[in-house]
Amino acid sequence: TSAAALAAVLSGMRASVAFTGAGISTECGIPDFRSPGGLWTRNRPIDYQSFRASPEMRAEAWRRRFALEPALGGARPGRGHRALAGLLAQGRLQGIITQNIDGLHQASGVPDERLVELHGNSTYATCLDCGARYELGWVRAQFEEGQERAPDCPACAGPVKSAAISFGQPMPAEAMARAGALSGGCDVFLAIGSSLVVWPAAGFPVQAKRAGATLVIVNRESTEFDDLADLVINADIGDVFEAALAR
Ligand code: OAD
Ligand code: ZN
Repeated sequence: TSAAALAAVLSGMRASVAFTGAGISTECGIPDFRSPGGLWTRNRPIDYQSFRASPEMRAEAWRRRFALEPALGGARPGRGHRALAGLLAQGRLQGIITQNIDGLHQASGVPDERLVELHGNSTYATCLDCGARYELGWVRAQFEEGQERAPDCPACAGPVKSAAISFGQPMPAEAMARAGALSGGCDVFLAIGSSLVVWPAAGFPVQAKRAGATLVIVNRESTEFDDLADLVINADIGDVFEAALAR
């Protein structure tokens, strides 16, 4: 069974890496991007250039972010997050690379030095010009006070944006470097809950495989990299990790 196959992999891991996507957080009530009902099936993404150029797009981006707050703000880690935090505490995993922006790996007890957030974090905001950090509550208060005008930075008047990376925005250099080092030096690479279609993130499973790692993909649906993988498990993440760890 897939639980037995996953259990065998987990028990052999020594210096492994988990790479996660939105599928690990769906059981926490946070929609993914590309499944039916996913965020990009409802709205086209607002890219970085549009956000910078257009006050209307900035306001729309913040409206969408606040609409997600009931789901994001109250979410607790799920079974997948908890399983990975446990494997990290046991020393089986050396790090987690995530594309997620929900902060749930941190909430499951993963320390910052073991976590790489490739696409940033949407639980706070930063000024695009000076980098100053602003909390979501402050942004919301400004937004409402200004009749749905996206706030500018009080320090430099630059645009304030969620700290999540948008399409067209430069990738965070330090996160990319850390993800590369982890991927190039692991024995097992677990790709969990990602459609693996967004680059450069999708390059890390490929890099790990080329460097000699065993590549395992755990995802409800097939991905473009299934042929490259040593083991593909098409199952619910929470179910299969729970069953594997119970063995
Ligand atoms: P996607 O929505 O593209 O893929 C999520 C995958 O998880 C899908 O293939 C689902 O079938 C699967 N899935 C969902 N729930 C699951 C469950 N409970 N068990 C097993 N599989 C499940 O999300 P990502 O691959 O994370 O980037 O998307 C990558 C990037 O695209 C995101 O980081 C985001 C988005 O644009 C930016 O916004 C920059
Ligand atoms: Zn600023």
